[in-house]
Amino acid sequence: MTPQRVLSGIQSTSESLHLGNYLGAVRQWIPLQDGYETFYCIADLHTLTVETKPDVLRRRILGTAAQLLALGVDPDRSTLFLQSGVAQHNQLGWIMECLAGFGEASRMTQFKDKSAKSGNDRTVVGLFTYPMLQAADILLYQADLVPVGEDQRQHIEITRDLATRFNSRYGKTFNLPEAFILKTGGKIFDLQDPTSKMSKSAESANGVIEIMDSPDVNVKKIKSATTDNGREICFDEKEKPGISNLLTIHAALTGLSVSQIEKDFEGKGYGDFKTAVADAYLAFFGPVREKTISLLKDESTLLQILRTGAAKAQVEAEKTLESAYSQLGLVR
Ligand code: TYM
Repeated sequence: MTPQRVLSGIQSTSESLHLGNYLGAVRQWIPLQDGYETFYCIADLHTLTVETKPDVLRRRILGTAAQLLALGVDPDRSTLFLQSGVAQHNQLGWIMECLAGFGEASRMTQFKDKSAKSGNDRTVVGLFTYPMLQAADILLYQADLVPVGEDQRQHIEITRDLATRFNSRYGKTFNLPEAFILKTGGKIFDLQDPTSKMSKSAESANGVIEIMDSPDVNVKKIKSATTDNGREICFDEKEKPGISNLLTIHAALTGLSVSQIEKDFEGKGYGDFKTAVADAYLAFFGPVREKTISLLKDESTLLQILRTGAAKAQVEAEKTLESAYSQLGLVR
């Protein structure tokens, strides 16, 4: 039996992944390498929806690749590539744009939120068509599973809608992908404002753990995470969003269940618990940070990994694009 396909992506919008990127998405990418055919894409073209200086963009793209490798993406078992390295993404993206309705694209919450923040005149058209390029990213590889955080659920849904529409109009061409979202960690919250998602675009950096920041900075952020006036360490998202978020983070980093952690910390205070979360953070991310720094010293190996990945991805992408073109009646 041919193994199921996995595709996921991450933008290269920052020097560093944040804890939510890892716990919500990349954490699942690693074990899926056993038993699935995995494609992991750095969505550098999506990143262009935010204006960035060329030297900064380049550094971020390479930095994202190095962090993914350090976190355990294995180029011998996964196809790791840059979206811009596989032109078929844009080609199928256009077809998706011609299938998507203006109304359904206008309902995408990520577009609504981001465009509301910047205002109409400063919102680029690429932000509006973003989900259609993302649909192409996924459908080109006939993915079965798309491991992502909760905030991407709507983008996977529109991908399924577009694939269904294409299949019913032109004949079965695309596999329908399923979102693969973790119950624990699918949405990690900001440490200072634990009712908002941890996000690269947060107004203040104090509640965002960037994994490439110095360990001291991050330990400080964990220790000063917002909690409440109570004393008990128990999971209650409504009444204790801060402690609940830290419990999720601790559970995800250690593999312990939330109820086990609650038991372990019975009778102990928030200070002890935060120290344990910080220790778990350091034990995991200390070596990841060191490994990333060392991978970045050898740029030519990094570039080679990405080129090999793009060449492999292109073969699969071209098969799907060819069949979509021919189903549409485009003359080849
Ligand atoms: P991006 O780059 O914003 O985020 C990468 C992954 O991290 C997840 N994530 C979170 N998970 C839990 N808690 C959080 N606070 C949190 N913040 C981010 C995201 O859900 C995502 O899985 N559009 C995508 C990139 C993309 C993509 C794709 C994803 C492009 N093409 C194809 C899947 C398939 C994005 O902006 O992710």
